[in-house]
Amino acid sequence: MTINIPDLEPNLNPAPIQANDDVTSNWDEQSVASSTQSLTGSIMEHVYENGRRYHLKSKEQYLLPSDETEQDRLDMVHHLHLELLRGNLTLTKFDEDPATVLDCGCGTGIWALEFGDTYKGSQVIGIDLAPIQPGWTAPNVKFELDDLEKKWTYAKNHFNFIHSRHLTMSIRNWPQYLLQIYKHSAPGGRIEIVEHCNDRYFCDDNTMPDDSPIPAYFRAVQPCYEKLGINSRLHGADYKKMVEEAGFVDVNLYSFKVPAGPWARDPKMRRLGAICAELISTGAEAYAFKMLTDVGGMTEDEARKVVEDVAASFLNRHQHAYYMEYFVTARKPE
Ligand SMILES: C[S@@+](CC[C@H](N)C(=O)[O-])C[C@H]1O[C@@H](n2cnc3c(N)ncnc32)[C@H](O)[C@@H]1O
Repeated sequence: MTINIPDLEPNLNPAPIQANDDVTSNWDEQSVASSTQSLTGSIMEHVYENGRRYHLKSKEQYLLPSDETEQDRLDMVHHLHLELLRGNLTLTKFDEDPATVLDCGCGTGIWALEFGDTYKGSQVIGIDLAPIQPGWTAPNVKFELDDLEKKWTYAKNHFNFIHSRHLTMSIRNWPQYLLQIYKHSAPGGRIEIVEHCNDRYFCDDNTMPDDSPIPAYFRAVQPCYEKLGINSRLHGADYKKMVEEAGFVDVNLYSFKVPAGPWARDPKMRRLGAICAELISTGAEAYAFKMLTDVGGMTEDEARKVVEDVAASFLNRHQHAYYMEYFVTARKPE
């Protein structure tokens, strides 16, 4: 199957995003919230805390909820990525459909299902700790429940493509995880690791002062990450280096700036920012509330203020904050 994947140059430092000076114009041409879908997840083995549902077995390892609100958020993140990659599921280009594909920490399964639909010659496995994938699947897609940080039971040298997206809150031992990916990749197999910055947001024009909600949010969550053994300080170059150290070749890093809110002049960037503002409206709570209370020792009111302030600040169009999304592509040597 021939897919039109954009020809991007690997880059470390993308160009600055131009801000829209007219902050009174209507940015929300169309509600991005209406574009999400709710997928029905299993209700087995879940617990309810602070009004959110968490998967019981994942609870020790993974602090994000698994309820419908979170599933909607994950699907909208997927939508944001499609916009970022101009409708494509990957930056990796394939000469032919990769025969065996693994999607690590597949969440709702949306990427795996769309990959199977696009590459009909591929057999796709989505693996996750939590049973939040649909019960129905396409004939070439299946879902398995397992812990990626345990020893994998797949055959060695097996997968022609392994995809891993947004597992920064999930994986404690990245070098070990990447070694397993290497071991189970087929010779010549391709991988794509997609992560975003998780210790700070950026700003190129000093419109995000240090005492504003976004830096305050990261100051609050950082000690919790450290206590939990989550390395939240990883950026694109770190992922690239670890992929190289695992033994992969042709390692390329692609970095994207994503505006935190609808402040950009370019309509496409403004739309990405608008999606981002929608995402943070439940994402800040998903990422941080439980951590700030359970690990950081904050009261519920204090934690609520941190997440509400950060979500509100994404609608401040005078603040030109953005985050980095990193894509590392690579190949296992023949
Ligand atoms: C932020 S979500 C990303 C979902 C998906 N990759 C996407 O981009 O839509 C992280 C997912 O990883 C799963 N997860 C966390 N720790 C895991 C582990 N040790 N093994 C397998 N899955 C894990 C969570 O249950 C969750 O569905």
